[in-house]
Amino acid sequence: RYPHRINIAIDGPAGAGKSTVARLVASTLRYVYVDTGAMYRAVTYVAIARGIRPNDEEGLASLATGLDISLLPGEEGQIVLADGDDVTGQIRTREVTASVSLVSANAGVRSRMSELQRLMAAAKGVVMDGRDIGTHVLPDAELKVFLTASPRERATRRFLELGDKPGVTLDQLEEEIALRDRMDSERDIAPLRQAPDALLIDSTGRSIAEIVDEIVSLGLAAAQTV
Ligand code: DC
Repeated sequence: RYPHRINIAIDGPAGAGKSTVARLVASTLRYVYVDTGAMYRAVTYVAIARGIRPNDEEGLASLATGLDISLLPGEEGQIVLADGDDVTGQIRTREVTASVSLVSANAGVRSRMSELQRLMAAAKGVVMDGRDIGTHVLPDAELKVFLTASPRERATRRFLELGDKPGVTLDQLEEEIALRDRMDSERDIAPLRQAPDALLIDSTGRSIAEIVDEIVSLGLAAAQTV
């Protein structure tokens, strides 16, 4: 019997490997992958481009309320559209990364993104990664994972992703990641937190394939019990 489609929530701090793992879990299960961090990054990028400051509460809220963010599957990963414009290449800069925690602490921004995310998950069969998916966006997700790794390992992974000319030292990256973790965990609305019913997986020293296999097995088991 073909298993029921379920929703899988993968939360955790920056650099724990969530997006790589979530993408692979989704393609193994033929589910849709939703990278919610990319959505917050897209709002941040548009805010910067329109000169709205990250501490302008009303400006950000009204920007987000009127903004349509959509995610499309592309040949080289997910394509992010903001009001129809492809912003995929603009959302991973250090400038956006430096402001995204402030922008994503905004109540109006969060409520609009959560609304869009719930719509994307309504038909089930979604693997969604972020910070508040298991706790706020999809509290009824059939499988919840909280994926972490040691701060040094997370910084090292980001460092390696930057390639030949990182433009930043490993220590600097570790500091930036620690600051973002702190801001994401200490904000008032929907902070980064492990849901009580989420399974904690520490990826330190483990391969991506191992983690993906573990989550796929858990997902298939959860789908049998729906
Ligand atoms: O996963 P990422 O590093 O691309 O996420 C970027 C930022 O977006 C992260 O520092 C906090 C915010 N974010 C959030 O507040 N809630 C989510 N569900 C996903 C990301």
